[in-house]
Amino acid sequence: SVDIASFTKQTGLTTLDQGFVNTSSTRSAITYIDGDAGILRYRGYPIEDLARNSTYLEVAWLLIYGELPTASELAEFEEKIRRHTLLHEDLKRFFSALPHTAHPMSVLSSAVSALSTYYEDSLDPHNPEMVEMSTIRLLAKLPVIAAYAHKKALGQAFLYPDNSLNFVDNFLKLNFGNLAELYEVNPVLSTALERLLILHEDHEQNASTSTVRLVGSTEANMFASISAGINALYGPLHGGANEAVLSMLAKIRDSGETVQQFVDRVKRKEDGIRLMGFGHRVYKNFDPRARLVKESADEVLADLGVKDPLLDIAKELEQVALADDYFVERKLYPNVDFYTGVIYKAMGFPPRMFTVLFAIGRLPGWIAHWREANDDPATKIGRPQQLYVGPPERRWPEGR
Ligand code: ACO
Repeated sequence: SVDIASFTKQTGLTTLDQGFVNTSSTRSAITYIDGDAGILRYRGYPIEDLARNSTYLEVAWLLIYGELPTASELAEFEEKIRRHTLLHEDLKRFFSALPHTAHPMSVLSSAVSALSTYYEDSLDPHNPEMVEMSTIRLLAKLPVIAAYAHKKALGQAFLYPDNSLNFVDNFLKLNFGNLAELYEVNPVLSTALERLLILHEDHEQNASTSTVRLVGSTEANMFASISAGINALYGPLHGGANEAVLSMLAKIRDSGETVQQFVDRVKRKEDGIRLMGFGHRVYKNFDPRARLVKESADEVLADLGVKDPLLDIAKELEQVALADDYFVERKLYPNVDFYTGVIYKAMGFPPRMFTVLFAIGRLPGWIAHWREANDDPATKIGRPQQLYVGPPERRWPEGR
């Protein structure tokens, strides 16, 4: 590696790297990816082992603190999170100021930003206890905010968290329970959702995580930084792809065109359409998360007895694309988002909640990165260079 600051000073040279294709913005010890070999590890542990054996909160601890927790550390962590699930009653009223048509991602980022107004006395990034408190509050409250965004769109009453349940079951109840009936968690959904959340927990310097680190580099508080990350995740080229995949599959079903005809239009780049859920900046062989998601899709739909024609279209699309030179030459494979929407839909979530589920998954990674940067004395405020290509100096037109 080169000390880029002194190199720039000595030579006067800068690099133009649009989209940061070859620029490392930081050192990080959290997640390792080998995009050519399809490897993803959190703190050294393969994603396959974590997805099959661990829980969302155990992996969150691993990402944030660097090691797997002991049984008592994990129990204490879970208990702390349980104690902080309630939202201030005033914050609950904040939801009523928003239209019921609001996209839940906008609701989520606004409410997370609003959290900092409730904890103004504990936002100092230099105080480790406050950093710890913000960590717990975010992990505890984001799922509740997410479920309220869902309920708000449905016009249904908000439920209080049920702290006798584990993290994932509590979240399912907040979304699908109601005041009139007992809610029984379906263990198939619970297991599948736990796995999906684990698969999303971190992915090193993607757009939203880089956003969280960039905002954090100004010493903005954790709530403000995570709210910015949620907004970065919203776009269809990032987390919004899971929602976009489902609408693409539904459009193919409703249009009457064949999968092959749709793929041909993608190849002709008609109206700039892309195969949503395909391609990745880093994975150029396969996305290891996509394999695990596909496994879950088959299991969940079979267990629920759901026969979804969209899953059949997705499978056919995958087959057609993987046999086509256009996709092979460009190394375009299904990414994590390709099958998640089909599962979330089978669980009963509306498409607009899909990216919200991604945000809950990604939260521990965002927190881990915010804290890693915050603890690192080498962190500087993020401030990219630019190459100016506008007009040279001009004179103000006389008489204007
Ligand atoms: N469908 C069709 N063609 C594609 C696709 C796609 N999904 N993705 C890339 N290409 C083509 C491009 O048109 C380009 O072709 P060209 O060389 O003929 O111009 C070539 O492949 C390279 O594309 P880039 O845009 O340069 O690739 P980049 O690495 O910048 O983009 C990205 C990665 C944004 C993920 C892209 O593949 C894409 O738009 N995918 C669809 C959206 C999506 O699924 N996003 C989720 C990503 S994963 C995540 O955030 C969790």
